[in-house]
Amino acid sequence: MNRQVLLFISLLSLYPVSGQVSYSIPEEMSKGSLVGNIAHDLGLEIKRLVSGKARIYTRNSDEYVELNREKGVLLVRQRMDREALCTETALCALHLQIILENPMEFYSVTVQITDINDNAPTFEKSEMKFKISESANTGAKFVLERAVDLDVGINDLNNYELKPTDHFVLKLHNNADGNKNVEMVLQQPLDREKHELISLVLTAVDGGEPQMSGTMLIVITVLDINDNAPVFTQPTYKATVTENSPKGTVVSTVSASDADQGSNGKITYSITNTLDNVRKIFEVNEKNGEVSLMGDIDFEKSRHFQIHLLASDDGGLTDSCKLIVDVQDINDNTPDINIMSKSTIISENAKLNTVVTMINIEDLDSGENGNVKCFIFENVPFILKTSTTNFYSLVTDSELDRETASEYNITVTCSDEGVPSLSSSVTLTLQISDVNDNAPVFERSSYEAYIVENNTPGLSIFTVKARDADWNQNARVSYILEDSSVNGVPVSSYVSVSADSGVIHAVRSFDYEQIKDFHFRIKAQDGGSPPLSSNVTVKVLIQDQNDNPPQVLYPVQTGGSLVAELVPRSADVGYLVTKVVAVDVDSGQNAWLSYKLQKATDRALFEVGLQNGEIRTIRQVTDKDAVKQRLTVIVEDNGQPSRSATVIVNVAVADSFPEVLSEFTDFTQDKEYNDNLTFYLVLALAVVSFLFITCLVVIISVKIYRWRQSRVMYSSNLPVIPYYPPRYSDTLGTGTGTLQHVYNYEVCRTTDSRKSDCKFSGAGSQNVLIMDPSSTGTMQRIQSERSILDEPDSPLEVSLIM
Ligand SMILES: *[C@@H]1O[C@H](CO)[C@@H](O)[C@H](O)[C@H]1NC(C)=O
Ligand SMILES: *[C@@H]1O[C@H](CO)[C@@H](O)[C@H](O)[C@H]1NC(C)=O
Repeated sequence: MNRQVLLFISLLSLYPVSGQVSYSIPEEMSKGSLVGNIAHDLGLEIKRLVSGKARIYTRNSDEYVELNREKGVLLVRQRMDREALCTETALCALHLQIILENPMEFYSVTVQITDINDNAPTFEKSEMKFKISESANTGAKFVLERAVDLDVGINDLNNYELKPTDHFVLKLHNNADGNKNVEMVLQQPLDREKHELISLVLTAVDGGEPQMSGTMLIVITVLDINDNAPVFTQPTYKATVTENSPKGTVVSTVSASDADQGSNGKITYSITNTLDNVRKIFEVNEKNGEVSLMGDIDFEKSRHFQIHLLASDDGGLTDSCKLIVDVQDINDNTPDINIMSKSTIISENAKLNTVVTMINIEDLDSGENGNVKCFIFENVPFILKTSTTNFYSLVTDSELDRETASEYNITVTCSDEGVPSLSSSVTLTLQISDVNDNAPVFERSSYEAYIVENNTPGLSIFTVKARDADWNQNARVSYILEDSSVNGVPVSSYVSVSADSGVIHAVRSFDYEQIKDFHFRIKAQDGGSPPLSSNVTVKVLIQDQNDNPPQVLYPVQTGGSLVAELVPRSADVGYLVTKVVAVDVDSGQNAWLSYKLQKATDRALFEVGLQNGEIRTIRQVTDKDAVKQRLTVIVEDNGQPSRSATVIVNVAVADSFPEVLSEFTDFTQDKEYNDNLTFYLVLALAVVSFLFITCLVVIISVKIYRWRQSRVMYSSNLPVIPYYPPRYSDTLGTGTGTLQHVYNYEVCRTTDSRKSDCKFSGAGSQNVLIMDPSSTGTMQRIQSERSILDEPDSPLEVSLIM
């Protein structure tokens, strides 16, 4: 311990002062520590102190120092704290008097207490709090609390330190009173986002030795300002969504962060697209950034969306990002079939691969969903061909035949390849137009028709019918009689055919006895271009009618002449007298003749063979029987009604010719004939001879005529009917009379066989006998008011008389 002893003399004292002494001791000395050797310093003896009952007198500081009289020293009675005794006074001293008695004297003692550095600087508060906006400018000053150090002098507060010094520096101002103002000055800007709380330690140090310090914590809360914009986690987001997703489907979630606090960091999301319709389709949850659908989403309208999203904090700072939404297709569009061009009619002779219809397919979907294939399921002669994608043509695949199918309903079905697949179809109706590819076909391969002779001209005989499988005009059948000749005569003079109906008419009246059958061809021709035709043979069979009475050939009936059969009286039973010979030009039943005895002089004598016309005796001829026997035989045919002829047979029953003559004189009742019997017989012979020669001439001339006729037929168009000799024109060997046959041919000649209007003139008014002029002994006679050549339509009647 540093001890100082100061001696000085106090002059200012009312009491008798022997001297005064001063000590200097540091504070905080422990009790009993020596302050000073007062006896020595005052020059007093210990005895005096004891005797003088030296004591310390003090008003207030007596407790700090005590006097040890026996040793003559002053001791520290209790700890002295300078700061407590003197506070801030720099000089701190205890003033005390030592009083002695006997004699009473006193000494002033000053105990100066010197400071030791026993007090550290202290702050009133251990912590100081600031709230500083991060926007505070550098240079901003913040006044800090000062520290207090009870010590004085160099032990007093000497300096401050602030740590760390990143943001703030300390600035001290010396005040007039010697104190220092402490400020901290912002030298680096604050960033709440980096350091929200800053702790600084302010240390106050004194100048003592050892140095003491006090600290204070400075807690700075950096107040946020909106200095950070929201930041999206990605600049671009990607999402996919299938089309037709329901409203409310979450597409994606965008997220932005804001480093700021509170409302400065509260992010609101929004969509900023303006020009497109994104805002009608998407919405963003403004709080959590969920982007969801609010409208219909259709791949076929938009495949991508760019959604511009904005994140903004309450302070108005923003960030933007893009959300690219790819729309995924689903198969929601059926293929659309578009007929580009089509024909509704196609000719049945169209070539293979003829394009009928062209089709374009469209499917709005994409990928498999838009891959369309078309098919025809029906079995039709058409196929679909495709050249380029989505274009199809319907072409003919095989021959068409209108007669088999005149119309097709072709259903084209198109399906896409989506799952499930969608399809649509269209039905094309195609008419097949007719081509004249079918000839008319007669119902039968040949026809036979029957007509009874003596028909009225114009009578319809028969109808032929042909059918044509084609259509309309191509199926309109006309019937045409093909040129041919029947017995050298054009068939058109026999029959005509109605072009429309196929009805065959007889042009003339047929005579079975002249012609029994004939045939001709009828052509059926359609109205196509070129026309097609076919033909058929029609055979006409003429049926007999009982139109001819039997003709008695023998015995010849000669008017008044006498012909008789001679029967000898010796004739036996069954003697063949004669035979009645008759013919019937009809045929069949109509020509089946029967003979009956109609009248007889003596019915018991003769009979007539029913079948053969033989006249026989049925009993023995007697002498009583008359010479003259007259039999009337009736010849009947078997027709319905039957026709008949009668013949008178004279029979002379006599043994000699003179007998006959005598008898037959009576027969004739004519004497002159009787007288001239011989003459008549000769005459009869002559007549028979003449007739015979005539017949020969006629036969020869007919032969020649026929030969000529065939030439005339070729050289002229005259409708001349050839002459046919009667079948029974030959004279019988025994014949003595003449046979006369008259054949009438009635010819209708018309310009058009179809009209078949015939005119018939009265019999005999126009008779033409055409004979070969070269033949001898033949008469040629033409009786005609009008020339045949002038009137080609006039009917002709040819009579041939024998
Ligand atoms: C085609 O369709 C039409 C109308 O549906 C129908 O009248 C006609 O009979 C059909 N034709 C064929 C050949 O199926
Ligand atoms: C008639 O038809 C046959 C085949 O049926 C044919 O051969 C002939 O030429 C045809 N005749 C005419 C004159 O057309």
